[in-house]
Amino acid sequence: MIGGSRAPSPQSYARGLEGLVTGDTMISDIDGTTGGLTYRGYSIADLVATSTFEAVSYLILQGELPTASQLEDWRSELRRWRRPPRAAFDALARVPRRAHPLAQYRTMLTVAACHTPEPENTTLDAQWRRPARILSWTSALAAAAIRHLDGRDAVEPIEDLGFAANFLYQTLGVIPPDEEVRAFEASLIVQAEHGLHAAAFAALVVISTGADLGSAVLAGMGALSGARHGGANQLAFEMMARFESADQAGTWARAALERGHRFPGFGHRVYRCPDPRVKALEAHAEAILKSHGLEHRWEVYTALRAEVESVLGPKGIFANVDSITGLLYHPMGLPVSAFPIPFCLAIQTGWMAHCLEYLPDGPMIEPGAVYVGHEESS
Ligand code: COA
Repeated sequence: MIGGSRAPSPQSYARGLEGLVTGDTMISDIDGTTGGLTYRGYSIADLVATSTFEAVSYLILQGELPTASQLEDWRSELRRWRRPPRAAFDALARVPRRAHPLAQYRTMLTVAACHTPEPENTTLDAQWRRPARILSWTSALAAAAIRHLDGRDAVEPIEDLGFAANFLYQTLGVIPPDEEVRAFEASLIVQAEHGLHAAAFAALVVISTGADLGSAVLAGMGALSGARHGGANQLAFEMMARFESADQAGTWARAALERGHRFPGFGHRVYRCPDPRVKALEAHAEAILKSHGLEHRWEVYTALRAEVESVLGPKGIFANVDSITGLLYHPMGLPVSAFPIPFCLAIQTGWMAHCLEYLPDGPMIEPGAVYVGHEESS
């Protein structure tokens, strides 16, 4: 029996918080009916066509696209933090190589955070000094965690490379062709912000308590690692990689639909229509797969997608961004278990922007729960 005078009213109660709104934001607008996604008023398709990840991260955090001199300052601030503390790399040596790369990377960030110049300073000014350091440190740490999977040492950054190219270089040990860097950068841009999804909300809860921005990002990473969230791109790729041809994929998908299978890389809490991030990446994925002689993988993807959407589309279930990023990352040479990492690297930009937007006057986030246990025994 539900008891207590503090039980929330039915209007404010929703399991999983579905449909509840926690505040206003000026950072991004998602239209889950028509498939629109804008950052600060710019559509992701336009940003992919005209901007770099550095410019887009500035836009998301600061609210405006940078002028040429603001962009140069932001780039040099990002370059300044490309060498995380040695202790974070030493910690990696003690982490089992079989651990998931996201867990390895999170462990390194925890160690690095203890070596920040002003860890206890949570004034607004100090929090604003953190995004460049977090973006650049995590890029280097993520690259090292991926290399650790097969026992390779970390690679020093190349100063004049942009964010996307330098991450790929520090991960792969070579600079990929321009079109692959551009495709990877497009994937970072479309994944850089997505409203108050579960991981962004986890970060917001942490910042609302008065904690530092690094702790908020670590909370976001934990939330993102789940299979329902950022872990889905790895699972979606593994599903597609089992098939050699479109026919095989179509036959399997029809049988899987019959038995009510839940397809990783499909469905979304907000989009009940095609995910605009998929559209922004499809041409890149097709071109890169074809340039690597992997046409069959593109055909598998389109066949699987057509089968699943023909049955589940009327229910509002379409391919989401996690269905396609692995198709880009695999031919570039990223290991499959590392696919969630670029997603995490990109989307922490949005988490930090939401935290900084909330900080000046946001109250501590602390929802209630309706008690449905035993009555007090007398
Ligand atoms: N494959 C098959 N059916 C799916 C589905 C999928 N990927 N996603 C949702 N559904 C179905 C459910 O079975 C359910 O059907 P029912 O009403 O007949 O029982 C219905 O759609 C609603 O599912 P629910 O889990 O309540 O919706 P949600 O809005 O909470 O789901 C996700 C959002 C993302 C958790 C869900 O779509 C999912 O698990 N997708 C796969 C994981 C994934 O790709 N995550 C990354 C998202 S970017």
